Amino acid sequence: MKTFLSLTTLAAAVSPVVHAQVAVWGQCGGIGFTGSTVCASGSTCTEMNAYYSQCLPSTNTGTTTVVGTTTTATTTSTAPPSSSGTCANRTKFKFFGVNQSGAEFGTGVVPGKWGTDFTFPAPSSIDFFVGKGFNFFRVPFMMERLVPPAGGITGPFSSAYLANLTATIQYITVTKGAFAALDPHNFMIYNGAAISNTAQFQQFWTNLAGQFKSNSKVIFDVMNEPNGIPASTAFALNQAAINGIRASGATSQLILVEGTSWTGAWTWVSSGNSAVFGAIKDPNNNTAIEMHQYLDSDGSGTNAACVSSTIGAERLAAATSWLQANNLKGFLGEIGAGNNAQCITAVSGALCAMQQSGVWIGASWWAAGPWWPATYFTSIEPPNGLSVAQVLPQALMPYL
Ligand SMILES: *[C@@H]1O[C@H](CO)[C@@H](O)[C@H](O)[C@H]1NC(C)=O
Ligand SMILES: *[C@@H]1O[C@H](CO)[C@@H](O)[C@H](O)[C@H]1NC(C)=O
Ligand SMILES: *[C@@H]1O[C@H](CO)[C@@H](O)[C@H](O)[C@H]1NC(C)=O
Repeated sequence: MKTFLSLTTLAAAVSPVVHAQVAVWGQCGGIGFTGSTVCASGSTCTEMNAYYSQCLPSTNTGTTTVVGTTTTATTTSTAPPSSSGTCANRTKFKFFGVNQSGAEFGTGVVPGKWGTDFTFPAPSSIDFFVGKGFNFFRVPFMMERLVPPAGGITGPFSSAYLANLTATIQYITVTKGAFAALDPHNFMIYNGAAISNTAQFQQFWTNLAGQFKSNSKVIFDVMNEPNGIPASTAFALNQAAINGIRASGATSQLILVEGTSWTGAWTWVSSGNSAVFGAIKDPNNNTAIEMHQYLDSDGSGTNAACVSSTIGAERLAAATSWLQANNLKGFLGEIGAGNNAQCITAVSGALCAMQQSGVWIGASWWAAGPWWPATYFTSIEPPNGLSVAQVLPQALMPYL
């Protein structure tokens, strides 16, 4: 999500910040936090726990108001379909699930403290989604915690953080038999500086993939949401990562590459990504293009209102055509929208269009995670995340 990028940049570049405003959903306080505590207008700094406060939209704060709570599963709609029952000739996703946030929390706090600044996904949450039939979890983590700045990105791992990350991956893949995507949630920024050295980035991935090369259920998600860099730079770094992953001996697993401009599907052409990513080469022919898409007016995933009930399919259309024209596979690594009838129809329409296209192999909802506040509008953390009661059964599960 974009919000996380701006926070990373802010904390790294100008911390401690005086008077700067934190965007909605950003961290605004907590023990050890040194950033701004001033929330953007219309939002209020709300304490989630002693170590994590977040700017929540003022209209949501402290309430359980949910837009569209009166919607029922029988919402009528002709086009796009409101359930897979009216989505003709679809091909199911190979991978379908949720993001599992937590290990990347505590932006700017390095290394931070487990249980206070960051945490790992709850096994019970993973159980919940596997029990519903989902088989994919994207697991964000913070690079600076895995490869501490003292040694740089090619340096040694923090054995404690790696052990905990590995335990999560093992739980998902071995205990539950699902797929887990390793997601360095760093926006192509490490220790406050843009990652630009392809040889070093390649080595980082050789080192990390080497840890998981014998686990066929692990997926390598090269980098969350590069942005502020040319598409060609993002491409070169992703290509280097593929080379590094395969060189480690991890030759069978799926790799996901992400473009610049937060890898937005709707901006895939205007960002320049479409002009360069068609040339991606994987010696083992198992790489897909990961894109993200939110359905609010600015595509940032910060507003519970969707532009229209057809916006999901519309925003994916050009990217889908590009994937088809280039004979590439797509993976929608993040999709999120509000808990209301219009958004539910829009999400359903997006998933239907994807399953009819023949080129999208997976999708994951943004996001589960134990520390999302009860008011976070796309939280799907069971049992009470706002996306659990309606979005899950009405917009997601029909596409299992
Ligand atoms: C679905 O596929 C079948 C067989 O290929 C075809 O006859 C039918 O017209 C398709 N339906 C739609 C709505 O595309
Ligand atoms: C790893 O998890 C354990 C609890 O299982 C915790 O005590 C420890 O602090 C964690 N360390 C890191 C670096 O995440
Ligand atoms: C790569 O894999 C795809 C299936 O994912 C297949 O259609 C294509 O023919 C393969 N290409 C090569 C060069 O093996």
